[in-house]
Amino acid sequence: MTFQEINAKRRSIRDFLDKPVPETVIHDHLKEALEAPSSSNTQPFKVVVATGDTLKAIGEELTHKYNVSLSLRKKNIIGKLITAYKHKLAPNKVYETIQGKYPGYYQDRRIKTAIGLYKVLGIKRDDHKKRNSEMTKNFYFFGAPAAIWIFANPKMKYTALVDTGIFMQNFMMAATAKGLGTCPQGALNLWREPVDKHFDVPKGYELVCGISLGYPSDAEVNVYRPEKLSVEELVVPKK
Ligand SMILES: Cc1cc2nc3c(=O)[nH]c(=O)nc-3n(C[C@H](O)[C@H](O)[C@H](O)COP(=O)(O)O)c2cc1C
Repeated sequence: MTFQEINAKRRSIRDFLDKPVPETVIHDHLKEALEAPSSSNTQPFKVVVATGDTLKAIGEELTHKYNVSLSLRKKNIIGKLITAYKHKLAPNKVYETIQGKYPGYYQDRRIKTAIGLYKVLGIKRDDHKKRNSEMTKNFYFFGAPAAIWIFANPKMKYTALVDTGIFMQNFMMAATAKGLGTCPQGALNLWREPVDKHFDVPKGYELVCGISLGYPSDAEVNVYRPEKLSVEELVVPKK
């Protein structure tokens, strides 16, 4: 495939086949991702790779945390605090995701993208039960047989995140080029404790994002193509 074909083919995949990804294939994607540029070649990232029983165990724990976090809505403040403490629900704070509304027109873009996705899935906007169950799929990786978690070192300031983002995109393009699919997931940034239980992430590395990896099914959700900005909207006009 040409770059243009791979670029057009890469979409966030939210339904995977029950087909394992060989370790050598994941290794190859990581090797290709490592060709990414980084500030002064510092490569300020670390990656956790989970498959099989380990992935299952992490998925169960994340799903449990998510389900308990949903139950908080019905509790009073004391109940909320006790449950959150007991189940260690405090979200990752270093590279944190926004809890709640996004600022300004980013919230409109988010809603538009979500509406498009729910339409493809046949979920009505006010059907909170189905929306929650769709959201829950994040925590078992949409059925993917593999996932990676990317950590960066905040001591490298803003370049840590720039470098990590480029690395992630290289990884996703490498996977797409070989017929695999990926979903980058901020949802997998919420809680790192289930990952730390199984992996010795070096001190100083903070969780940025997770990526599910596997062979895409032919479910309609996988052909959803959310609208992107036009170049005219992107480029700042001259004064
Ligand atoms: C940093 C980041 C976090 C994301 N988090 C999630 C997530 O938690 N769950 C999900 O289903 N998709 C997630 N996505 C996928 C985006 O929704 C998706 O990239 C966007 O809608 C554009 O669609 P495309 O990737 O198919 O082009 C995330 C993407 C990025 C880059």
